[in-house]
Amino acid sequence: MSGVLLEAGGLVKTWQARGRQVAALKDVSLAVAPGETLGLVGRSGCGKSTLARVLTRLTPPQAGSIRFRGKDWLSLAGAGLRAERRHMQMVFQDPLAAFNPRSTVAGALADPLRLHRLVPRERRAARIGELLERVGLPAGYAARSILNLSGGQRQRVAIARALACEPSLVVLDEAVSALDVAVRSMILDLLVDLQRERGLAYIFVSHDLAAVKAVSHRIAVMEAGEIVETGPAETVVRNPQSQAAKDLVAAVPRLVREGP
Ligand SMILES: Nc1ncnc2c1ncn2[C@@H]1O[C@H](COP(=O)(O)OP(=O)(O)OP(=O)(O)O)[C@@H](O)[C@H]1O
Ligand SMILES: [Mg+2]
Repeated sequence: MSGVLLEAGGLVKTWQARGRQVAALKDVSLAVAPGETLGLVGRSGCGKSTLARVLTRLTPPQAGSIRFRGKDWLSLAGAGLRAERRHMQMVFQDPLAAFNPRSTVAGALADPLRLHRLVPRERRAARIGELLERVGLPAGYAARSILNLSGGQRQRVAIARALACEPSLVVLDEAVSALDVAVRSMILDLLVDLQRERGLAYIFVSHDLAAVKAVSHRIAVMEAGEIVETGPAETVVRNPQSQAAKDLVAAVPRLVREGP
């Protein structure tokens, strides 16, 4: 883990909602190294999803800079942006919202392969089968409708679709929060395996400190639009400094805090 994959500085995002202003990001800076997982935690409404959306360019910030893979990420446009986008993928809490519900699994996975010209047409079906197997689904699921999957299966397809792009960074926003405990731990294990295999970096956003600690190298704690603490995952959980981190740690079971 050397160098910097993503570096954001001074991000500001204020939402305007019905005449009210919400300072969701006040002055946020962070860095992620290649192959690293940065966990992002904080109470509901502290700005985690806003930060995830700004980093992935789903929402423009009012101020700040982002360098990704050595490029000025916020100034990319047109073909340059399309080419670079595949390197940063996002997985949301509710994968159904991110899919065309009329699509089949194969259709959902074929889109990025075609769009980014990653695999020649005649290799596409085989690649889709490989991607499904990699996330623990039978290749035969390719023919299924997205609607005929369980939440956990759909989230696996969402991860397979992100992987189809061969990204360097995947931003996961509460990606396992809605899943039952067994499926959640399978998916967390899968993420860790994929990281070892491919040197993927993650930004793992969750209000669940236990899940964050299980996968993160470092943890950043957010409170009211600011990052109030960043450190190695063990250190933040065992010896939290900020009140926000102390509150989060106090809310998880002792076994998780103290580890094996
Ligand atoms: N599209 C939007 N329009 C207006 N306000 C928004 C919008 N999205 C978020 N906000 C506001 O910005 C603040 C931060 O919200 P955000 O969704 O980033 O928090 P969060 O940390 O992801 O919370 P949660 O843990 O509940 O998902 C909140 O006050 C929220 O109401
Ligand atoms: Mg959120």
